[in-house]
Amino acid sequence: MRGLERTWVRDVLCVFLVVPVVASTAWAQGSGSSRATPSPPRQPTTEEFAASLWKYLHREQAPYAEWQAAEIAAPQSVQDPHGSNGKVYLNDVAAKDTERFAYSSIVVREDYVDNADRPQSISVMYRVRGADPKSGDWYWLKYTPDGKLARSATAGGGRPIAGRVASCIECHQKAVGKDLVFFNDAVPQK
Ligand code: HEC
Repeated sequence: MRGLERTWVRDVLCVFLVVPVVASTAWAQGSGSSRATPSPPRQPTTEEFAASLWKYLHREQAPYAEWQAAEIAAPQSVQDPHGSNGKVYLNDVAAKDTERFAYSSIVVREDYVDNADRPQSISVMYRVRGADPKSGDWYWLKYTPDGKLARSATAGGGRPIAGRVASCIECHQKAVGKDLVFFNDAVPQK
């Protein structure tokens, strides 16, 4: 992972994951010899961050499926890879202002093909200061239904789909108002 991403990934983790991170560090240190030099805290990898976010999205007190749902807006002029069906969910921060999307906004899109009983994938946009200043500071993730990061379709399994994902950004730049978000656009529907 690149340096910049590491820094802000740590900041993101601090927002809501500080307790488990601290707990696991204490556990790791406590499990060694008391004379061992404590090692500096390690930055989470992309996969670890994605796993933490997945847990956060499914936490018992407020799973994303109970967040405010938004009407999907599928513009005629843009190809839509998310499946013919689905739902969009907004965390409190996103729901509060869907024109401005304050930092810490999370938007979750469940991607369903036709009437399948579970989504083929789960696409997430998470707005974090410093994540990608040139493209609205959105951090992009695509999960498989069992919560693993999806991987790009290239030989050898491809790269995990998380971070500044060019394909997501290029297409979402077609959204009205340069916020890279479609559902808040008043556009002709399919
Ligand atoms: C070829 C165009 C295209 C690509 C590539 C694409 N999207 Fe989308 N996305 C759309 C369109 C169109 C919508 C609105 C219609 C819908 O929800 O189906 C949308 C909706 C969404 C939403 C709901 C919020 C919104 O904008 O309405 C999320 C979250 C999302 N996409 C995430 C992603 C992620 C993550 C990626 C990359 C892994 C991605 N998208 C790639 C076209 C695209």
